[in-house]
Amino acid sequence: MSGAEREIESFSEDEARAELDRLHMLIGAADIAYHQQDRPEISDAEYDALKLRYLALEGAFPELKRPDSLEDKVGAAPAEGFAKVRHAVPMLSLGNAFADEDVVDFVERAKRFFEREKDLELVFTAEPKIDGLSASLRYENGVFVKGATRGDGAVGEDITENLKTIADIPNRLKGSGWPDVIEVRGEVHMTHADFRALRERSAAEGGQEYVNPRNTAAGSLRQKDPSITAKRNLKFFAYAWGFASADPAPTQFEAVRKLADWGFVVNPLMIRTNTVEEMLARYRAIEAQRATLGYDIDGVVYKLDRLDLQRRWGFVARAPRWAIAHKFPAEQATTILNAIDIQVGRTGALTPVARLQPVTVGGVVVENATLHNEDYIKGIGSNGEQIRDGYDLRVGDTVIVQRAGDVIPQIVAVIPEKRPSGSEPYEFPHVCPACGSEAVREINEKTGKVDAVRRCTGELICPAQAVEQLKHFVARDAMDIDGFGSENVELFFSEGLLKSPADIFKLRERADAVRHALFKRREQQAAEREKATGRQRKKVLSAEERTYEGLDKLFAAIDARREPELDRFIFALGIRHVGETTAALFAKTFSTVEAFRETAEKAAHHHGDIHEVFPSINGIGDTVLRSVLDFFSNDRNVAALSDLLEEVRPKPYIVTISADSQVAGKTVVFTGSLERMTRSEAKAMAERLGAKVAGSVSANTDILVAGPGAGSKLKKAEELGLLVLDENQWLDLVAK
Ligand code: IVH
Repeated sequence: MSGAEREIESFSEDEARAELDRLHMLIGAADIAYHQQDRPEISDAEYDALKLRYLALEGAFPELKRPDSLEDKVGAAPAEGFAKVRHAVPMLSLGNAFADEDVVDFVERAKRFFEREKDLELVFTAEPKIDGLSASLRYENGVFVKGATRGDGAVGEDITENLKTIADIPNRLKGSGWPDVIEVRGEVHMTHADFRALRERSAAEGGQEYVNPRNTAAGSLRQKDPSITAKRNLKFFAYAWGFASADPAPTQFEAVRKLADWGFVVNPLMIRTNTVEEMLARYRAIEAQRATLGYDIDGVVYKLDRLDLQRRWGFVARAPRWAIAHKFPAEQATTILNAIDIQVGRTGALTPVARLQPVTVGGVVVENATLHNEDYIKGIGSNGEQIRDGYDLRVGDTVIVQRAGDVIPQIVAVIPEKRPSGSEPYEFPHVCPACGSEAVREINEKTGKVDAVRRCTGELICPAQAVEQLKHFVARDAMDIDGFGSENVELFFSEGLLKSPADIFKLRERADAVRHALFKRREQQAAEREKATGRQRKKVLSAEERTYEGLDKLFAAIDARREPELDRFIFALGIRHVGETTAALFAKTFSTVEAFRETAEKAAHHHGDIHEVFPSINGIGDTVLRSVLDFFSNDRNVAALSDLLEEVRPKPYIVTISADSQVAGKTVVFTGSLERMTRSEAKAMAERLGAKVAGSVSANTDILVAGPGAGSKLKKAEELGLLVLDENQWLDLVAK
């Protein structure tokens, strides 16, 4: 008799445990099918029955309650922090080797341990040590059910939902032959390219500063809102496992191959080595590639290949005896600080950049280093602490630059003995180098502290801010004008064709001048190429060719965006502190650009409580609100926005009218073919109206929308006596 049909009272403890495992697996799989794949495999009623049975069993056998009990999933999630997860097998750390001799010692220890076996060949794998965060992913019957951080090694935090957003982590294992239960372990990390892009985006928005890919990956994983994690494009390398109901393979090397077969990304640089010389050679080879891998690594890990031998050699305290991490030295070099340049960002932030005598650090030529802000140059860190032993930075100084574990080179020390005599402390400019306006350090109203960043007060008259603002306006996340790009912004701006966003939409009227500018740039680039290569161009461009063929495309791309989505439009305005999420909140609240503008302008000139005029919006705090009002109290901004609205018509944001919609709170199922809309449109519409869309019909279903070709679902709905509508009736209903 199958467990599902038996009375709970008749179970022995072992049977109960097996039944709990079975239910846990089924419920986990149903959750994934429903939430992740939008493809429910069982009805809501069946799901509820499984869950009730699970909870009843746990109630009858409290001692069997699993650390990852589904009970914790019932009802609201804990208000703060993440739930704790006990790893079935602890997550260990690794012993370190810093010098070659340490690796020699490690291999010697292995030989001594196994010295009785005369002919035993000791094989070790060698692979990069990824500088990220380790995570443990529990798969039950091939389905990802729980993911956790390392924590203290014994207990981590449940970050399942965040891990599910990582494309490298399969929801379901591929292929076959996986153990019934396996905790796959590996490293979550962020690539240099993604880190750079995020950093630039954040700087452009005046957002937080991200220090390095590792910390950023860590922060991204601990988001309460998985949709933020999803945007960070995190990656995962699988390299080990914890608990497994069966060994994946007899050796480490083959086991990792298996992980790849089951759908994980594994590091391509892992090899097997037979001697200590081969291990050290692999270490050097990986070190040589370190700078070009595109992700941070901080050493090479060697592991004894045969799992049976690993077991025999065993563990010390919290690390295996059979593996060791051979660390890379920090990547540093000495060079000269030639100059300090100031860059002006979109929000007017003056950012100092060190121009260095070019020097190779870990295989990469470094010419620039970030200097963050004024205090940093003085030797003061962001919390007021001393950095570089308190030494300030002066032009002409000999400095030590470091790249280790960080994409952006940093100046970690000054060599004071080499400071040229007569050198002067660096004077941070108090006027903007781009427009001459005063540059000030504001006082943060909340903390009462002086802001670390000095800002240009020129706003729209500042060419540097204007150019950065225009780049932001056309960017992919904002207005998304295809093919416009930063280069074109700079070109048209310098040619006087572009001053404010409205001008972008007037470029067509000035097609000749635009063509001329593009042609001029082409000629310049060709001349530069000739100079660089010493080769002459084959022929001079004909007059016809001068009619820049990309022009029509560019104008078409601009015209295509004359009716932008309201949230993108608000984001594109580049109001300080208004990122994509905030812009969407405004769009949702105000629905039309007119309403947003009128309210904000009124509020900007309002005396007294701002919320008499401007609604308080969940998720919009004082800083954002103040920044919006600042924007709208500036006449130049208001005029620029009016001009822009002569050219573009942002689409009204479709408002959720869930509370009073006819279908709010109802569960709707679509079946058969739809003719007036696609399935995904239909689903989005229903959800906007506050309905829940399910994949299968059950007693919990309220409405079945059935198109031509509807089959078993229609039959079932009729049997259950549910409301069945055709597509037109449905549209009539939601229009009410
Ligand atoms: S194996 C029992 N392999 O390094 C061995 N760890 O210092 C478990 N790490 O917590 C780890 N890359 O976060 C292993 N290729 C790799 C690794 C790696 C990075 C991390 C991992 C671990 C830490 C130990």
